[in-house]
Parts: sequence; structure tokens; C-alpha cells
Amino acid sequence: MNKSIDYRSDTLTQPTAEMRECMAQATVGDDVYGEDPSVNQLEQTAAQLLGKQAGLFVSSGTQGNLLAMLGHCQRGDEYISGDVYHVYLSEARGASVLGGIASTVLATGDQFEVPVESLRQAIKPDNIHYPISRLLCLENTVHGRVQSQSHLQALCDLAHDAGLLTHLDGARLMNAAIAEGISATEISAPFDSISLCLSKGLGAPVGSVLCGTNEFIDKARRNRKLLGGGTRQAGVLAACGLYALEHNIERLADDHSNAERLAKGLASLQVMPIEQHTNMVFISPPAEHVAPMCEHLRGSGISMTVDTPTMRMVTHLDISSDDIGKTIGIFKDYFTSL
Ligand SMILES: Cc1ncc(COP(=O)(O)O)c(C=O)c1O
Repeated sequence: MNKSIDYRSDTLTQPTAEMRECMAQATVGDDVYGEDPSVNQLEQTAAQLLGKQAGLFVSSGTQGNLLAMLGHCQRGDEYISGDVYHVYLSEARGASVLGGIASTVLATGDQFEVPVESLRQAIKPDNIHYPISRLLCLENTVHGRVQSQSHLQALCDLAHDAGLLTHLDGARLMNAAIAEGISATEISAPFDSISLCLSKGLGAPVGSVLCGTNEFIDKARRNRKLLGGGTRQAGVLAACGLYALEHNIERLADDHSNAERLAKGLASLQVMPIEQHTNMVFISPPAEHVAPMCEHLRGSGISMTVDTPTMRMVTHLDISSDDIGKTIGIFKDYFTSL
């Protein structure tokens, strides 16, 4: 039986033996009392990495984004975001459901960026007919695409000049930092708050860190408790996050080069359009091949996300360079057997 190679997401990684060892050895306390040394260390480390005053360990990227919106906005305020961003599309509209916060989403461009002019037009004047434009929520990377730093800066400058606050969904911020060769602090600088996921490319089993000012994080800590997210000896999980920040950032370059090699290998078959951005490869096979090709791949132990007409393959910690060679071979087998 072939080892399965699972490209569906970089969230699928198994904690390594070293990470499990850190978990076993973690010094813990009651985090609701603020007494878990491992959680405190993770929060400080992440805040320092992102150049912010404070951090808060949260259960997920969704919780980090929700706490940011609840922290920055009041009922009747709105956040402005991109139409394909996770915060709007895939977080069950938590800000509206739980916070009475309205959303306005803007059509994004080729690189999934929010156009500056659209943002300018979307920010509402103070008028009783409109919600109060309070927050700009951006994302980096977006479907693997690194957002231009000068563009992020221009959007945040415009938002700040108009009195808005800014939040970055940095689920894969470290992929952007590694791909661009710039620091996480630089990427985070234009933003008032950032949510960084530990459980995606960084390979931890659970958690994100929300970072911002001391005042903002105090408010987020209160709201996290309100949402039932205050946890006790969470240091066993924070230890994995710390391990991930210490050991798994630089190695994202391996995921990117694996994705590039996979894209090049598949492009050499000359049968379908291929796009690759950081650790994500998107393939668009001719419609008649989708079902039989997926069956062939599944039979050979390869999984990916199929969202016809495009399929997404994400490289991560549990996909080796050898796996990439095998995968290209399995695709070749399919097309040469026709
Ligand atoms: C860009 C982005 N933001 C936020 C999230 C939410 O993270 P979580 O699944 O930890 O809630 C995801 C999850 O895939 C994501 O891709």
C-alpha cells in the first residue's frame, strides 16, 4: 500500500515527535488566572515577532479574527474587506451574528487585492443612513498569493486617514514573509492587529495568536472568556506553538520550493493550466478528465481539494521532496495511459 500524500491543506500536519516531546515537558498553570508560563511565553514571543505590544493565544484563526472585529467595532459599525477573504466567506459571519457588526466587501483584483479606489469609495461619510465604517480587514497570503507590501501600506494609510482601524488575517503571514524575504514585523507594521495561525504551515496542532496594543488585547481577553475560550493548562498546546515559531518558519521555504517543483512537473505534461503561489498549486484539468483523474489519484493515495474546474494542492510539513517526484509520476501515468 502506498503512503498517502495529502495535499488538501497545510492544516493536516501531524505534530512531530519533537513537538510532542515539548508538549510533554511544558510547564503549565491556569491561563484564566494568567499563570501559564508557556502560554505567557508564546504570547510574548508572537507579539515581539509581529512588532506589537501584546498577544493572546486563541483556539483558531476564526476566533482571532472574530475577537479582532469585536474588539475594534461596536454594534452598528461595519468592517470592509475583500469578497474572497476568509473572514467574510468562511467564518459563518460571526461578527454580524455575535457582534451586530455589518460587512461591506469589495471585488478584489488579479492578486486578490482590495483596490485602493474601491476602498476610498466604500468608506462612508458620517450619515445616519449608513453604518459607521470602522475597520479594514485584509489577508496575507490570499489563496497563496503574497500581497504587495506597498499596496497593503497604501490601503492602511487610506483607512487610518479616514479614522478606521486595520486588521490583518495573517493565517499564512509567515509564508508571505519567507517568500518575500521580509520580516513579519514589517508586514504587520501598517496594521493595528494581526491574527497569526500556528496550525497551518507552521505545523502546530492547535491555535493562533492575536496581537495588538495592550489595551486591545485586554479587551480581546475579556471577549475570549465571554465566548467560552478561556482555557486552563493550555501550555501543553502553547508549547507546540512556541516550537513552531522557533523551528518551522524558515522551513516554509521548503514547502514553497516543493510547490514550485510540483507546478513545473505538472506544467511539463502540457495538458492543463497550472498556477503556483507560495505553498499552493492550482490545476485546472479539462472537464472530461476531472472524475477519472481524481479516481486515478485517489487510487494512488493522493488527495487534494477539488473545487471544479480548479483543484488545489497545498504543500506542507508532511509532504517531502520525494513525495513531489512520486506525485508527478502518478499524474504522468494517468495521462500516458489514455
Ligand atoms: C486565510 C485564513 N484565515 C483564517 C482561517 C481560519 O483558521 P481556523 O481554521 O484556525 O479557524 C483560515 C483557515 O483555513 C484561512 O485559510
